[in-house]
Amino acid sequence: MCGIVGYIGHREAYPIIIKGLQRLEYRGYDSAGIVLFDGENTNLSKTKGKVEDLKRKSKVSISTNGKLGLGHTRWATHGVPNDVNSHPHYSNSGDLVIIHNGIIENYESVKKALVNRGYEFHSDTDTEVLVNLIEEVKNKEGVMLGKAVQIALNQVVGAYAIAVFDKNKPDEIVVAKLGSPLAIGIGDGEYFIASDASPFIEFTNNAVYLEDGEMAIIRLGKEIKLRKIKNDAIAYPNILELQLNLEEIEKGGYDHFMLKEIYEQPRAIKDTYRGRLLADEGIVRMAGIDQNMERFLNANRIIIVACGTSWHAGLVAEYIFEDLARIPVEVEYASEFRYRNPVITENDVLIAISQSGETADTLAAIKMAKEKGAFVFGVCNVVGSSIARETHAGAYTHAGPEIGVASTKAFTTQITVLTLIALKLAKEKGSLSEAEFHGYLTELEGIPAKVEKALESNALIETIATEYKDSTNCLYLGRGYNFPVALEGALKLKEISYIHAEGYPAAEMKHGPIALIDEEMPVVVIATRKGHYEKVVSNIQEIKSRSGRIIAVVTEGDESVKELADHVVEVPETSEPLTPLLTTIPLQLLSYHIALMRGCNVDQPRNLAKSVTVE
Ligand code: M6R
Repeated sequence: MCGIVGYIGHREAYPIIIKGLQRLEYRGYDSAGIVLFDGENTNLSKTKGKVEDLKRKSKVSISTNGKLGLGHTRWATHGVPNDVNSHPHYSNSGDLVIIHNGIIENYESVKKALVNRGYEFHSDTDTEVLVNLIEEVKNKEGVMLGKAVQIALNQVVGAYAIAVFDKNKPDEIVVAKLGSPLAIGIGDGEYFIASDASPFIEFTNNAVYLEDGEMAIIRLGKEIKLRKIKNDAIAYPNILELQLNLEEIEKGGYDHFMLKEIYEQPRAIKDTYRGRLLADEGIVRMAGIDQNMERFLNANRIIIVACGTSWHAGLVAEYIFEDLARIPVEVEYASEFRYRNPVITENDVLIAISQSGETADTLAAIKMAKEKGAFVFGVCNVVGSSIARETHAGAYTHAGPEIGVASTKAFTTQITVLTLIALKLAKEKGSLSEAEFHGYLTELEGIPAKVEKALESNALIETIATEYKDSTNCLYLGRGYNFPVALEGALKLKEISYIHAEGYPAAEMKHGPIALIDEEMPVVVIATRKGHYEKVVSNIQEIKSRSGRIIAVVTEGDESVKELADHVVEVPETSEPLTPLLTTIPLQLLSYHIALMRGCNVDQPRNLAKSVTVE
């Protein structure tokens, strides 16, 4: 839940670290810090707040010299966000400096023991405990930093991606990973360290992603030395050539990443189905499914696990799989599933959905299902992420980097992949006729153009937003395929505008939420022509007769809802299973504009972080 960056080489580290932190700020942004080392002295600056605050503070408090540097942007777990708790942290002697993403679960007992042996602590963090443990081991055992890190890590429980250096070893950084991501960029006479590759992509395309339980000694002029934390076994670095480019991680003329990512959806959906959806030939090509077709066809059921927006995509998939492929599906919050001793058999297929591929609860659910013998398939966006590596097989969404904390293109591309899978299975099972199958392929191929059309409502939605920006509550209703869209619309509004919002199946309204409706209550109703249309129209009438304010998302050309609703936003017509790909667009735009008008930080909403790598 934090971002870490490091540099060692021939350049000034300061601008690389600051820029890198800005790119990683989506991972946490309640405090930030940087340390530079010129071979003799360290220079540290830390502050509560964002990287921009750190930039201001460090300009006056830090000399920009130093060709070794570490930086950190934090999402607080242990200790409130303040200057002292920000990373980097020094050891008691001042010789060791550490940055850490993760949690050391047994830090209290370790801290107590260290205090008894004379160690002093200045912060409330688990990280300061770890760096002092490393120092103690180093001094007691008389070992080098790498060995001390290894011994210390074998004494702690938790998750980490760490980078540490020792002032007595100016040409070396030691890194280690368990449960939190860590990439090493390999340049010409220089090394970069980061939570993902974005901080170093303009310097090198060559990177090594550490596996869980690995550590590396990065020494200038030498090759990276990789080993297992547990048993000293040598590991061999698998150097990947990255495909990422700089443009993809910058705003490209948009005011916010979220808006850029909303507008990227036509392209992203196309990239998701490119090479997989061959509509003319009537083929869906997906290696991960082809190679494991029997597992899917013989599955008792498919269990989908995910969190947040990915969980909503899972709900849409439940409708699609059951409807098209006639396979029973259960959708579970990963955080509940992992702790409730679920019945899992070898004939179950588990699909884990995650944009980041790093969500701790989803990862834990995967590990549990694997232990119980289930076949696990991942749907991830981030290539090489922990979930992508932990699953038996998978399919990437190819949405490109999603930087805005509120997921947008991740949702539509996840649905696209899951639809392709459902169609492939349906074809194999014969649960759809040839004509139906071909019809869906053609329709899916045309979705990017229809998303483009849905985006044309932006100006109208901005006007609607002005009327509701001061609301304190908002209800979202949808039925069938559009029920998960209602949940997703409500999540988008609450997470970036801080307006309380609830998503409900429209028919459930009369079982409780209807009591909330009065002239102050905006109700967003998804009322597309396909999908229980008449019934949803009746729900709209019920809201109207209680003076609720109705914002309806309808199919192009709809006249009936127009007469009832206060506002109507049209989306193009499509086949029912594909409607979520269109109806979600106006809801994303509505939350974006409302948040903006309320002066909220759209890309970095309070208390949140892009990937939740802690429980
Ligand atoms: O990276 P993941 O898809 O696993 O993340 C899951 C959730 O944390 C994520 O969808 C979260 O709910 C977003 N902020 C929603 O916009």
